Amino acid sequence: MGEYYVTGGCRLSGELAVHGGKNAVLPILAACMLNAGESLLTDCPNISDTRDTIEILQTLGCKVTREGSTITVNSEPADTYTIAEELARKMRSSIVFLGSLLARFGSASVSYPGGCVLGLRPIDQHIKGLRELGARIIDEHGFLTCTASQLIGKNITLDYPSVGATQNIMLAAVLAKGTTTITNAAMEPEIAELAKFLNAMGADVTGAGEPTITIHGVKELRNAQHRVMPDRIVAGTYLVAAAITKGDITLTNVFGSDIRPVTAKLAEAGCEITESTNGLRLVAPPKLRAIRLKTQPHPGFPTDMQQQFTAMLALADGTSIIEETVFEARNSHIPELCRMRANITQVNDGRTSVIQGVPRLASASVSSHDLRGGAALILAGLAAEGTTTISPSHHITRGYESIEADLRALGADIVFNK
Ligand code: UD1
Repeated sequence: MGEYYVTGGCRLSGELAVHGGKNAVLPILAACMLNAGESLLTDCPNISDTRDTIEILQTLGCKVTREGSTITVNSEPADTYTIAEELARKMRSSIVFLGSLLARFGSASVSYPGGCVLGLRPIDQHIKGLRELGARIIDEHGFLTCTASQLIGKNITLDYPSVGATQNIMLAAVLAKGTTTITNAAMEPEIAELAKFLNAMGADVTGAGEPTITIHGVKELRNAQHRVMPDRIVAGTYLVAAAITKGDITLTNVFGSDIRPVTAKLAEAGCEITESTNGLRLVAPPKLRAIRLKTQPHPGFPTDMQQQFTAMLALADGTSIIEETVFEARNSHIPELCRMRANITQVNDGRTSVIQGVPRLASASVSSHDLRGGAALILAGLAAEGTTTISPSHHITRGYESIEADLRALGADIVFNK
């Protein structure tokens, strides 16, 4: 139960490289089950979600080695299709193993997933998609047990463009007989990234990143190498850190086009953004302007940046409105920000936040209840008077390799007591 101590008032400046993406590497690690061979992944983030996913692969019988940010997975010896409850409950993304285990073994048994508590988080679209491909799914005692003698390609229309359901169907369909299409598919950059890895293994996936994805099933997959894309949410978090401290930073290893929905809103709040081939620079204004935003599936504003923006807009000039449309309960950071003297009112069953900008935030001892909410509290601490204590740390270390070292490198006063 570690704690972060953040003393506010330091203006961030300098250059920083962003680590590989959490939401990119997790489904790719699940995909490593498919080839019964070796996969070599570079630029993998050293975060607890990656470590937990490696543990899942090992319990399934894979040989996994890690050297720095390079992970090698040999899934040839894998011989089990059950993911233990304590592992599955640590992370929501464990659910994507359903698709790859079904494709590899014709059977998968996965406990209901865990992850950040952001509302109900149903998995009906995952189940619907896999059933349409021919899987028999039994949902009993908190476990999903799936079997299929042969998965058969199908036209699947999702009710909602769920990221995880799209990935699960892609993983199941690459080795299915015939052609699968996913209509109303998620378009997040991590979907195109998964397709890139699957195609490097010899799969035939087209249209990933667009609303309709086509997957022609192939008979087998080969060994592959892949460099994991940069983490667009970590990049966004650090841009907000610069904005909230009136800073001037340059990020490298960032794909400007992937985070344009975020940089567009930072620009609207008064920040100057410059995209170049090797990076992204943000120069903050002396005073941020209030804005309105609404979270949406990509290419809309990402829900994973909503909480960090709430912290930033608490100090903007005027009244900002944030509407959360993706998750119904992504607001546990708000009472904590109010402890730091933010002026935020929630309306519309907590889905809309009305943020009246205040001239300054005050330090406090605050609780981090989820990953991005925890990051938002660190950001608020950077701009607050005095020293803010943020705990526990375990949600934050799920997605940030070393947020304290990164922010310190940019001039922040932050200490992490593990
Ligand atoms: C992924 C990301 C997460 C991000 C989210 C939305 C990973 C590991 N996590 O999560 O960081 O916040 O996308 O961009 O990549 N839903 C259903 N039925 C389903 C599936 C989802 O109703 O079967 C709903 C969810 O409850 C939620 C919305 O759809 O309200 C979005 O969920 P989804 O896109 O599936 O998010 P995740 O894949 O869980």
